Amino acid sequence: MQQNELKDPFGRIVDYVRISVTDRCDFRCVYCMSEQMTFLPKKELLTLEEIMVVCDSFIELGTKKIRLTGGEPLVRRDIIYLIKHLGAHVKSGNLEEITITTNGSQLYKFSDHLFEAGVRRINVSIDTLEAEKFMQITRWGKLDVVLKGLFAAKKAGLKIKLNTVALRGINDNELASILKWAGEHDFDMTIIEVMPMGDIGSENRLDQYISVSEIQQNLLKQFNLIESRHQTPGPARYFEVAETGQRLGFITPLTHNFCESCNRVRMTCTGQLYLCLGQDENANLALALRSGGKDALKAAIIEAISRKPLGHDFMIERGASNQAVSRHMSVTGG
Ligand code: 5AD
Ligand code: SF4
Repeated sequence: MQQNELKDPFGRIVDYVRISVTDRCDFRCVYCMSEQMTFLPKKELLTLEEIMVVCDSFIELGTKKIRLTGGEPLVRRDIIYLIKHLGAHVKSGNLEEITITTNGSQLYKFSDHLFEAGVRRINVSIDTLEAEKFMQITRWGKLDVVLKGLFAAKKAGLKIKLNTVALRGINDNELASILKWAGEHDFDMTIIEVMPMGDIGSENRLDQYISVSEIQQNLLKQFNLIESRHQTPGPARYFEVAETGQRLGFITPLTHNFCESCNRVRMTCTGQLYLCLGQDENANLALALRSGGKDALKAAIIEAISRKPLGHDFMIERGASNQAVSRHMSVTGG
């Protein structure tokens, strides 16, 4: 029988796939990588053609939404061909949506192409609107280039959501003004807690960590936040900001459990399918594809989904290792 839906052992329909197309990035954010990050040898990455076959297979198995992540997806050479390929699936109705999570550094040159290819929404990571601080957090990033990219994206017609990682003592006192600025430009915003993923060198995530509930309390002093009816199967909880009309999400992977409604899986740039962001359960899709072609790949996907774990157990605690999962976010994708 033709299978056109992926259902896990807990009855959850998996119809959302996040694909990391590269582990490389032109930034070195302090919560993500050490400055001397070693990247994978290029030959270990799936080729763009292989990623296309993986995407086609997922779409044939009922995937409705694909998000490209990294690393920084837009630094992968020829990435626009993959985006056009996926955009064609959107135009023909096989796929509901293709989205991208980007650090914004390349948007000034890519935005029009993304829109033409069929992308309508993007997430842009931005943790501060102060140029010096931006350099302190991203080490290598330039705020003015990202802002130029954001406005190019808006002009091209892309709907923008800002992803802001809350960092104690770094940007926690700036979140209200970023939210206000985002409202003025019609950008939605999601505030994210630091997650314990991958070695980040001498930086300490415990020092960086601030809980979303503390942030929410602070924002409530200045904004009227109304619990939104817009709830997705993902980890974010949404509010409407009464003053600006924009949507504000909070991602609290450490303090809340959102696993019951999880509808997603993630593929790394080397073709490992991870079934849960906080667990090591995985499947080697690269091996399946290379040894047995597309049919073997689809069989491997179906088999993997039958092993999707119920949930994760991230924790940041004093005394405990502050790295719950050894792989970097830039390998699995956020
Ligand atoms: N904790 C929280 N967010 C992270 N990101 C990258 N690494 C981490 C981490 N350890 C964020 C990026 C981006 C999104 C894809 O993930 O800033 O907004
Ligand atoms: Fe690059 Fe994103 Fe990691 Fe920053 S958080 S180094 S932009 S992958």
